[in-house]
Amino acid sequence: MCGIVGFTGRREASPVLLEGLRRLEYRGYDSAGLVTSTGNELHLRKKAGRLAELRKHVAAHPAPGCHGISHTRWATHGGATDRNAHPHTSTAGDIALVHNGVIENYAALKQQLQAAGTQFRSDTDTEVLCHLVAHYYQGDLIGAVQKALALVKGTYGIAVMAKGEPGLIVGARLGSPLVVGIGTDGTYLASDANALAGFADKVVYLSDRQICALTETEWEVRDHDLAPASVSVQDIGAFLGDGDSDKGDFPHYMLKEIYEQPDALANAMRGRLDSADSTAHFGGLNLGAQQLRQIDRVIMTACGTSYHAALVGEYLFEELARVPVEVEYASEFRYRNPPIDRNTVVLALTQSGETADTLAALRESKRMGHTTLAICNAVGSSIAREADGGVYLHAGPEIGVASTKAFTSQVCVLTMLALYLGRTRHLSSIQGQHVIDDLRALPDAVRKALECHDRVKEVAARYAGATNVLYLGRQYLYPLALEGALKLKEISYIHAEGYPAAEMKHGPIALVDENTPSVFLVPRGNVFDKVMSNMQEIKARGGPVIAVASAGDRDVVSVADDVIAVPDVPEYLQPVVAAVPLQLLAYEIALSRGCDVDKPRNLAKSVTVE
Ligand code: F6R
Repeated sequence: MCGIVGFTGRREASPVLLEGLRRLEYRGYDSAGLVTSTGNELHLRKKAGRLAELRKHVAAHPAPGCHGISHTRWATHGGATDRNAHPHTSTAGDIALVHNGVIENYAALKQQLQAAGTQFRSDTDTEVLCHLVAHYYQGDLIGAVQKALALVKGTYGIAVMAKGEPGLIVGARLGSPLVVGIGTDGTYLASDANALAGFADKVVYLSDRQICALTETEWEVRDHDLAPASVSVQDIGAFLGDGDSDKGDFPHYMLKEIYEQPDALANAMRGRLDSADSTAHFGGLNLGAQQLRQIDRVIMTACGTSYHAALVGEYLFEELARVPVEVEYASEFRYRNPPIDRNTVVLALTQSGETADTLAALRESKRMGHTTLAICNAVGSSIAREADGGVYLHAGPEIGVASTKAFTSQVCVLTMLALYLGRTRHLSSIQGQHVIDDLRALPDAVRKALECHDRVKEVAARYAGATNVLYLGRQYLYPLALEGALKLKEISYIHAEGYPAAEMKHGPIALVDENTPSVFLVPRGNVFDKVMSNMQEIKARGGPVIAVASAGDRDVVSVADDVIAVPDVPEYLQPVVAAVPLQLLAYEIALSRGCDVDKPRNLAKSVTVE
């Protein structure tokens, strides 16, 4: 969500801060700000809007100095305005602070501070923390931060500077990531190591409740009681996304990431398929063969698109591994008290590895003593580090806010996991080998599916004016119907709903009229005839039908108004191949409506608040 970058060293801070923020801007983009220090002065610059606004402001009003902290905001408390942008400063202007997370008891703290005469200048929860630090500050910033944080309930990743201690940056985390960077020309602080690529050589990830203090040449990490903490210093290279994060020749990250899917799938499978034993292998699962054999239930938990991948996983695990699966939104699971027995494994799915609800669900499961696994893209993220074991997607950085390649890579990893579990149970080596062959053919099938792009453009032009769209599919393609609807609504702002195709008779069919298109997922498979009947039901009520179907399917052509062809793959891999036209359809419709595809309104990549 929000992003933090700090630097103290032997070069001008503001270019470093602005470049770091640029790399994090996709996470939150409603306002940005920075503060630098020279001698005994703090230079505060902040602006509502995109980072470009702050850049212009800093160009017109330079912020000098070699020490500074900065922030890109996704508003939680208070609108996206200049005064609500971070950094926030104390009344006397001697403390400046940036914050990711939510201070849950801010209202009570604010009342106390106001009663003592503090004037507030913003509507944020963060400002409370700044005044609290100022209240305790007597020349020792780290001590004041520790005292202030002791009063706070909620989550935070913070960076703080004091006018009286130029060159010093204090940081702290609880539930919001923070990493110290060590470089040749100074020390850094960031909410994501990717902001520090090319600046820092080494990184130190803070754990919850740790506090760090950085100067030009030194850094230290302490526990919440200020005792020295034991930390590990690691090469930054291990934590940087393994693809490049430029748009290349693509006009948007989303389009680039859609087109990267054949390679992302190949990367997800690299070194993991084992034809000799007709199974898959994973380096980081940390489960012995016996433990694996004992798993009798899997709970998958996730949010958004990752939740939809988990729903595909439910079908995959039940079919290939015959292991019962429950899928639960992480935001619900974290507050439930479901009976979970000893041989249940909790599997968290997450692209960013920082989603607050998924992290909390994982922690709650660990607290109860369950084995936790994660399927994650971001290396070194909180969930990757805290799960007992896991599998990385190796999809490379996903910058477009709408998740695309992470979804198909997650389904690919889930297929390999289902194969792996299945091979410890009933799945024969011949069946296992079929799955391996199907998976190996998948990148090419997705490459072929991308050839539908021109056809999708024609279809998008026809339906870009719709105000409601239904997405309908059955079995493996029911979760994809949910995902297709999510893609369309998040980037084009058209209301869309995904439904099991047969279920629409029980309510949503009332929405159908000549202005409400339905996108049917109807490639050939076991339920093909059933879905065709559901399609006829929509046609009979005058609803336009867009069908995603097997190439050359004449039956579909005879009923649907518009057909987008995808190559045939086995049913359990259809969600991967059929995802491509749905992603492209959402992209093209959003584009023709003039929407900001990569940074849709109100959204942020990596949702680190509850
Ligand atoms: C939708 C989207 C979100 C994320 C959700 C979970 O396109 O990107 O719905 O899927 O916020 O994020 P991760 O996977 O990072 O936990």
